[in-house]
Amino acid sequence: MSSLVIQPQRTPLIGTVRVPGDKSISHRAVMLAAIAQGSSVIRNWLPAGDTIATLEAMRALGTPIRIEQVSDQAWHLQIEGRGLHGLSQPSHPLDCRNAGTCMRLLAGILAGQRFPSVLDGSEQLRRRPMGRIVSPLRQMGADIEAREERAPLHIRPANLKSIDYVLPVASAQIKSAVLLAGLYARGDTRIYQPGPARDHTERLLQAMGAIVQSEDRWIVLRSPFRNESLSEEAISKSGARPEAELQPLDLVVPGDLSSAAFLLVAAAIVPHSLITIRDVGHNETRTGILDIITAMGGAIEMSNRHTTGGEPAVDLTSHFDELHNTTIGGDTVVRAIDEFPAWAVAATQAAGPSTLREANELRVKEVDRISLLAGELRKMAAPIQEHPDGFTVNGPIRLRGAEVDSHGDHRLGMALAVAGLVATEPTRVNNAECIADSFPGFVETMVSLGANIRYSESL
Ligand code: S3P
Repeated sequence: MSSLVIQPQRTPLIGTVRVPGDKSISHRAVMLAAIAQGSSVIRNWLPAGDTIATLEAMRALGTPIRIEQVSDQAWHLQIEGRGLHGLSQPSHPLDCRNAGTCMRLLAGILAGQRFPSVLDGSEQLRRRPMGRIVSPLRQMGADIEAREERAPLHIRPANLKSIDYVLPVASAQIKSAVLLAGLYARGDTRIYQPGPARDHTERLLQAMGAIVQSEDRWIVLRSPFRNESLSEEAISKSGARPEAELQPLDLVVPGDLSSAAFLLVAAAIVPHSLITIRDVGHNETRTGILDIITAMGGAIEMSNRHTTGGEPAVDLTSHFDELHNTTIGGDTVVRAIDEFPAWAVAATQAAGPSTLREANELRVKEVDRISLLAGELRKMAAPIQEHPDGFTVNGPIRLRGAEVDSHGDHRLGMALAVAGLVATEPTRVNNAECIADSFPGFVETMVSLGANIRYSESL
């Protein structure tokens, strides 16, 4: 088990860096390229614990994938897709490790295959709710067995039909599982989302030639079947593959704004810092944290607006500022759902009580991010009050160095490391290896900006 030791930061953080590719897009790109018809090229793909689980799963499903390891933070992939029905039966249960996105999205694809499969993962992933995808997939006709609606998921072949589905929460993982199963269903798949969940699946599907339309909060995947009038019997007799196929991808994955968020917060709270992060994804369904930091009086400048992989991207510059408090709820919560560990640290340095509400979903992330984050930041003397659906942080506070724990959650680990920069004594973050689930090279990036952070073995 490795730990991180963070020294109080006495000098500004200065420099220009990149963050690794977007995790959500990296998962989706490998899955979709594997079921496309033809050879896809994906550059700046994120080689992190979570996404490598997806890559290995697609290989176990028979997809040839060639990897060029450009650096520890970026791989280029060439993926030979053999079409919607080109996957083959895996010889063993697929290990999604800690990756909820891997398990939930892949379940949508596997529900439509003509072979059985099993999706499993770490103890952490086995504790997370899977009923949220199993239920709509079963409504589509999927045959999935999941004891107490948890992994492992046992999936058997079934004929899928399209549904109209109202998402119970604004979750991109549920939306994507239904859309991916919709690729194997007869008829149009319609999904209502109560909030603006990230739309990377829709964008990639559109880039691959699928017809995906959104109107208000409804998303419609037009039937991929060429001939709706053929009966199931006629299809199986003729052996015909009546679906339209997805076209291969050629894309460069933008930097992950959720990883950049830790650097943006570090720059905003360490006096006199100035950091630029190049080529960061700037999809409107993900930019809540930029709005929040701006609302707290932080200055984030955007330049070099461009498009990469069908996604908007920018260079972001953040510098130290006197922050003040803010209240967060509504759609902003969905648009910043992964950023609240980083935000809580910013809130400890902001003047006045900052409150997050309507964020119940944080309780079912890698860990319960409300109670564990509050518990760990309290060890550093942060006054945090927990609510059922969020928390209030009473800033500004001089944090104390302490021995804290990531609880196996990458974002908790990085948030605590950033908190350590503004603590009065050294901070030790235990169980820090999980940071590589989303941000390989986090420590090296922080060090290049002038931070004094090093790995150490746990006591
Ligand atoms: C993700 C969606 C979000 C997010 C997660 C990645 C995705 O989860 O928290 O880190 O890639 O679709 P939910 O769909 O559960 O909100």
